[in-house]
Amino acid sequence: MLRHQLTLYLMSFSAAIAGLLFGFDTGVISGAIIFINKQFHLTPFQTECVISAVLLGALIGAISSGRLTDIYGRKKSLCASAILFVAGTVFSFLAHSPLLLMFGRFLLGLAIGNSSFSTPLYLSEISQKDKRGFIVGLYQLAITLGILLSYMVNYYYAQEGLWRYMLGFGLIPSSLLLFTLYLLPESPRFLMSQGKNNEAKAVLASIREKDKVESELYTIELTIAEESKTKSPFSIKPFRQVLLIGMGLAALQQLTGINTIIYYAPTILQTAGFHTSQAFLSTLLIGVVNVLVSIISLPLIDSIGRRKLLLSGLIGMMVSLLLLGLSVKLQASHPHLKPVMAISMMLYITSFAYSLGPMTFVIISEIFPLVIRGQSMSLAISANWLSNLLVAITFLSLIKWLGLTDTFYFYAFMCLAAISFVYWFIPETKGVSLEQLENNLMSGMPIRELGIPCNDTTNSPGEQHAT
Ligand code: BGC
Repeated sequence: MLRHQLTLYLMSFSAAIAGLLFGFDTGVISGAIIFINKQFHLTPFQTECVISAVLLGALIGAISSGRLTDIYGRKKSLCASAILFVAGTVFSFLAHSPLLLMFGRFLLGLAIGNSSFSTPLYLSEISQKDKRGFIVGLYQLAITLGILLSYMVNYYYAQEGLWRYMLGFGLIPSSLLLFTLYLLPESPRFLMSQGKNNEAKAVLASIREKDKVESELYTIELTIAEESKTKSPFSIKPFRQVLLIGMGLAALQQLTGINTIIYYAPTILQTAGFHTSQAFLSTLLIGVVNVLVSIISLPLIDSIGRRKLLLSGLIGMMVSLLLLGLSVKLQASHPHLKPVMAISMMLYITSFAYSLGPMTFVIISEIFPLVIRGQSMSLAISANWLSNLLVAITFLSLIKWLGLTDTFYFYAFMCLAAISFVYWFIPETKGVSLEQLENNLMSGMPIRELGIPCNDTTNSPGEQHAT
């Protein structure tokens, strides 16, 4: 039993390196851009293009990943991402013009977008239902570790302004991903869908107790038979409803402003009068808090449950944004309020890291019926990247237009919208098999009640979720 769990966790950790690269490659530019600017004398528009190239690539990567994973499998799709991670890093490291740099960053974006879809999918397909929250949550933890790593690498190379080394550092995790993916098995659910039942059985046997393998294979088979019936997520009303809710949650993860802090923390703190070193240190601290809270939250997802964590986290985010806005306003006349600014940023990150951060990936890997899971997850992740791009390219203009305080109040209002959305639409999926969720949806239950446990006879199989 221990051996099975160990194999499962090893597989999960290897796949989660893709999350680390997501965090690293999105976070690293915040420091590198200062020195890139010095070397290439970028115009503001070129600067925005260098920063947004990753997000645009990620959007395109996420849109195309649904079909790729369905046709070529989860593993090959992850391998394609790993190769793109390596290629994008090499291009960025060697770039001798802003255009080449944008191209390198765009390749990295394709890798991030594709893997931000296929990794949670792969993880949810190999995990058991009572550990699904934990295992998919690992992906978010990996993202936060990647962000922290990028902040540390930036800090290290910042003294000499070595931006190529900042970007090039990504070669270490991307090579590691390429290597570990080579060792990973394909998802049993995908193997079954290709008629490779013996291979699927062998993979399951390595990650499940012996007496659970057959029943799980059986459930996978049943759901695959179902799968051949309907395809489009737009075809029937319950599909459309659940798609809208998944996309809504994924968009709100970004529209509540997380990356205004992750990408712009040093800029915000400097604008508010922090010295560069103070701004840098506070940013590092934000990275550390993000990781620590993500670790603490992992076991809570399957014990406390998704809804309670989401709602309390969103309230925390809203309150801390109001506090942040207020402290920005007052600190000009009351400089001793500066620490309140940094503290409210920490509170905001803490609240996000145990709620909307991990839960978005957990919920969108759970709520879609198998027949539409690939396409729907890909659409939800695309909504996430599109909103990310939107926030990134409008944040600085919003500050110019509204001022820093009102900009944070605006994001606090978005948190309020997200609270209502979660309260009315998000189901509690803790401990319920994916098959049960699907049965409930198809029997016409309102989306918010999908997780109400019925006589769940699919215990072990369903776990597979995957299927
Ligand atoms: C989001 C990223 C964000 C990160 C911060 C992820 O869940 O998708 O956009 O930068 O969390 O930890």
